[in-house]
Amino acid sequence: MNGLTISSFIASLPKVELHIHIEGTLQPALRWKLAQRNKIPLRFKSQEYHTYEELLESYNVTYNHRPELGGRKDVPTFLEAYFAGCEVLLKEDDFYELAMDYLARCRQMNVRYVEPFFDIQAHTRRGIPAEHVLNGYLRAQREGASKYGVRSNWIFCFLRDEPVEDGEAAYETALPWARSGHGLFHAVGLASNAYERPPMLFKKAFERAQADGLHITTHCDFGQKDTHEHIRQAIFDVQIERIDHGLDALDRDELVEGLVNRNVGLTLCPHAYHRRTATEVLFPKLRQLLDGGVKFCINSDDPVYMHDVWIDGNMEKAYHYGELTKQEMVQLARNAVDMCWADEAVKKEIYDELDQVDVR
Ligand code: HPA
Ligand code: ZN
Repeated sequence: MNGLTISSFIASLPKVELHIHIEGTLQPALRWKLAQRNKIPLRFKSQEYHTYEELLESYNVTYNHRPELGGRKDVPTFLEAYFAGCEVLLKEDDFYELAMDYLARCRQMNVRYVEPFFDIQAHTRRGIPAEHVLNGYLRAQREGASKYGVRSNWIFCFLRDEPVEDGEAAYETALPWARSGHGLFHAVGLASNAYERPPMLFKKAFERAQADGLHITTHCDFGQKDTHEHIRQAIFDVQIERIDHGLDALDRDELVEGLVNRNVGLTLCPHAYHRRTATEVLFPKLRQLLDGGVKFCINSDDPVYMHDVWIDGNMEKAYHYGELTKQEMVQLARNAVDMCWADEAVKKEIYDELDQVDVR
């Protein structure tokens, strides 16, 4: 894994994953299979992938560039690659298989509980009926728990670069699958390209979700334009419960204070930042957060589009490059339990397991 092997300590640690996009777990083998089954050509813009090897090669985007900020325009951005991957997902079974593959992997990685994000608009805007997506994930949620022992509560994401009204309409459609209905999702989030799309644009949509008894979280991507203003709005104006990424808060004392005073935790994904940040710049930030009393946990984001680095790889990076102790790694795993929105009984089981971890 990027020159690092996953230690047995990290592999066996009981884990909670709070920042993973289910569509970002679509592995090339399943993508290839679904493309054949659904007769979908595999391509990105004018580039077609005719063989499985060509498809695999397309995952080797090694850096995270932003064309709108002067980056290259001739290779797909990470988000473009991610949405291109979604094109093979059409039927309820496709969404079910995607999610079951992921939950099986959770079991292997000792992920006990997960709150996956899903982007329903990535599918409905291609003409896929919402119920194919929602029923596929719902079936996997239930079977993942019974078959693999991996429990999950899901997070509906608004696509922030689409009109707010489209997100609100998608939410209305999905609402029968929320916690008060079928029980698939218990929170809403904000994902996709943050460029000039601050969290405040979605304040009303968040308020609506809260009125429906749902939790709220938002992405504040690392190193984006207006990143500090986005974090400020998330903490003080929208009064979000968690922030996904949000690492740039470290640049401003008032943001660090806001996170600490309001007990807003960060769901960090170290490998996502490591793609374009030097080791010696990035990893000391973890120590800074610990010293500053900011709560955070370690997650994976979009492993398939980020060099196949999953939660265990992200934790290994924090452990190794961040020079954290075993005790601190257990604390980060415990932070994820604190920050998650599982039932108390589920939380207690995981806390109890973490109490048994040997940190010598
Ligand atoms: N940021 C914003 N949107 C996303 C991401 C991300 O890291 N992954 C999938 N959608
Ligand atoms: Zn994300």
